[in-house]
Amino acid sequence: MKASSSWLTLLGPRLLLYLLPLVLEITGFSSVDRGHSYPGSYKGVVGGNVSFHCPVDKTKNLDLLYFQKVGVNREQIFFNGYHSSKPLTPHPRTEMDHNNTIMHIYELTLSDSGEYECHYMYKDDMNDRRVNMVKIHLNVTALFSKPVITNNCNQANGIPLECDVKCEAHNGFPDKKIKWNELRNVSKEMWKILRNDEVPTRTELVNISSTASFNCSVGELKVSCSVDGITSDIISVCSSKASPDQSANPIIVIAAGVICGLVGIVIICVFKFKKRNTEAENTRANGHPEEVRVLNNLEATLGS
Ligand SMILES: *[C@@H]1O[C@H](CO)[C@@H](O)[C@H](O)[C@H]1NC(C)=O
Ligand SMILES: *[C@@H]1O[C@H](CO)[C@@H](O)[C@H](O)[C@H]1NC(C)=O
Ligand SMILES: *[C@@H]1O[C@H](CO)[C@@H](O)[C@H](O)[C@H]1NC(C)=O
Ligand SMILES: *[C@@H]1O[C@H](CO)[C@@H](O)[C@H](O)[C@H]1NC(C)=O
Ligand SMILES: *[C@@H]1O[C@H](CO)[C@@H](O)[C@H](O)[C@H]1NC(C)=O
Ligand SMILES: *[C@@H]1O[C@H](CO)[C@@H](O)[C@H](O)[C@H]1NC(C)=O
Repeated sequence: MKASSSWLTLLGPRLLLYLLPLVLEITGFSSVDRGHSYPGSYKGVVGGNVSFHCPVDKTKNLDLLYFQKVGVNREQIFFNGYHSSKPLTPHPRTEMDHNNTIMHIYELTLSDSGEYECHYMYKDDMNDRRVNMVKIHLNVTALFSKPVITNNCNQANGIPLECDVKCEAHNGFPDKKIKWNELRNVSKEMWKILRNDEVPTRTELVNISSTASFNCSVGELKVSCSVDGITSDIISVCSSKASPDQSANPIIVIAAGVICGLVGIVIICVFKFKKRNTEAENTRANGHPEEVRVLNNLEATLGS
């Protein structure tokens, strides 16, 4: 404290005027260069497009107009447009519109986020050969997939005591908080969020999940979760009746019983009918052919 104040009196307040913007710039507190005060602040989503407008006076002719990106080390990266003298190769995925005051960037990626500048100069102003510059800020985000909700209950004799419900959403950016919706609005003491996780994926995007625990003493609950305004399916938690497969069982048993009974009756009927038919055929077969053969034999013996 003492050292810095003596340092300031030594150099005078004028230096402070020069240093202050620099300090603010470095620490990120400058209201001019950061936050929402950019003349152009754009939002885009991964895979989408964005169009930067350079706010030039359309009544004047332009000598040059180009867009460049400010790199991580504040280096200038040419994007597209007409540079003062040297023709530069445009950045891939970019295109200038017919009037050359708008630049489109296609198939946005997260790394397209950052600061850009539009540099332009008017042809007509012979007494003002300044290169004007406007700052542009681009924020590229990725929307999370529709959250998927899964339920895992701790049961005793088929009655749920406590359920851990997990909500997952994939491939978004930046990290978001998963919102839980308990639709019966029971006391907040009956459920708690156990943990929130964030897993970075290979493409700079993140997978997020949240696990909440529900006390089943309040009975059946309807629960969903949301991320980025997209809500999951609503699931039933702590369902007091048996689980869906078990509750479906009696119906299946009855249906199966009825079907088995019918099949059994049909089989018996077919069997009996066949038996009767074969018996009838047997009696018919047994009677006449033998008699014929006996008669033939008689004829043969008589004839010889
Ligand atoms: C981006 O631009 C291309 C070409 O104009 C178009 O086909 C595509 O539908 C656009 N995509 C989005 C997400 O706007
Ligand atoms: C070009 O500029 C003129 C005049 O400002 C405007 O009427 C026209 O729509 C612009 N064309 C395009 C493709 O932006
Ligand atoms: C970009 O937009 C997201 C979502 O609107 C926001 O959370 C984030 O802070 C923004 N980042 C910057 C650098 O402006
Ligand atoms: C939920 O309950 C709280 C207090 O228990 C109450 O303040 C709130 O208005 C209720 N919300 C709804 C949607 O019923
Ligand atoms: C993120 O989620 C996607 C989609 O389910 C999956 O394919 C990928 O393996 C996950 N990544 C990580 C790092 O867990
Ligand atoms: C659930 O709530 C009941 C009543 O408030 C309490 O007695 C019980 O200990 C709770 N169970 C768990 C697992 O927290």
